[in-house]
Amino acid sequence: MSDPRPIGVFDSGMGGLTVLRELIRALPDESFIYLGDTARLPYGTKSADTVRRYAQQAAAALVARGVKMVVIACNTASISSAAVAELLAPLPVLGVIAPGAKAALAAAPDGPVAVIATETTVKGGAYRAAIRALGSDIPIVQQACPLFVPLAEEGLVEGPIVEAIVARYLGPVLESMPRPKAILLGCTHYPALKGAIAKVAGPEIALVDSAKTAADAVAATLREKGITNSGGAAALSFLATDAPDRFARAGAIFLGQPIDPGAVELIDLQ
Ligand code: DGL
Repeated sequence: MSDPRPIGVFDSGMGGLTVLRELIRALPDESFIYLGDTARLPYGTKSADTVRRYAQQAAAALVARGVKMVVIACNTASISSAAVAELLAPLPVLGVIAPGAKAALAAAPDGPVAVIATETTVKGGAYRAAIRALGSDIPIVQQACPLFVPLAEEGLVEGPIVEAIVARYLGPVLESMPRPKAILLGCTHYPALKGAIAKVAGPEIALVDSAKTAADAVAATLREKGITNSGGAAALSFLATDAPDRFARAGAIFLGQPIDPGAVELIDLQ
């Protein structure tokens, strides 16, 4: 049996497109609807209660469009994955925190690992809990990098200004002893700044993100539930809660392919 329904993916903005990119690569026969809640970005400076409400509204909007599962392609919103799963049950819901923790441990099994993420993700300690849930007691340092999201959304991802900001945030992480063996990009916007982060961190520190492991986890869930699409004819569409033209223009950097402005629909989640 083949299930042609699309997979719903959402983020506060364009960062989740770095996850969608990997999903498209791993699951070329699947259709996707991506929702960027651009009107309410950033999520990463908001309270956990507000983020939960936003995440539930975004997920419900995707369900209303007939998706067969929801991928929360935002670390901050993934903190609410249990609340979203409860709302959508029995529809499968997958966040990016557990896949990210798995990727970090694969890159640095004995640690130390530095987790860089939004303020809300760091405050909630979700990555520490996810790494511990995998049975690891490696040393973990965490650092919030609040300016990375606006830089990435602005498409300002390289050059001296970006490197100075990266150095400012990574300073305490790089000086922590023992030095981290891996930096986990615990926000789906941060892979856009990977070049600048790598330049500041140096070649000995591995940079990991959750995109690839999240795509593997989505593929496994589809198989497990018997809802893969083998019929081909994959479609890609986009929803944004503000400025669809800007989403199409700047989103191409995150997705790694052009986005047709005509394929981005403006919606209201309130
Ligand atoms: N992309 C989101 C994440 O992975 C954060 C962006 C935001 O602060 O809205 O955490």
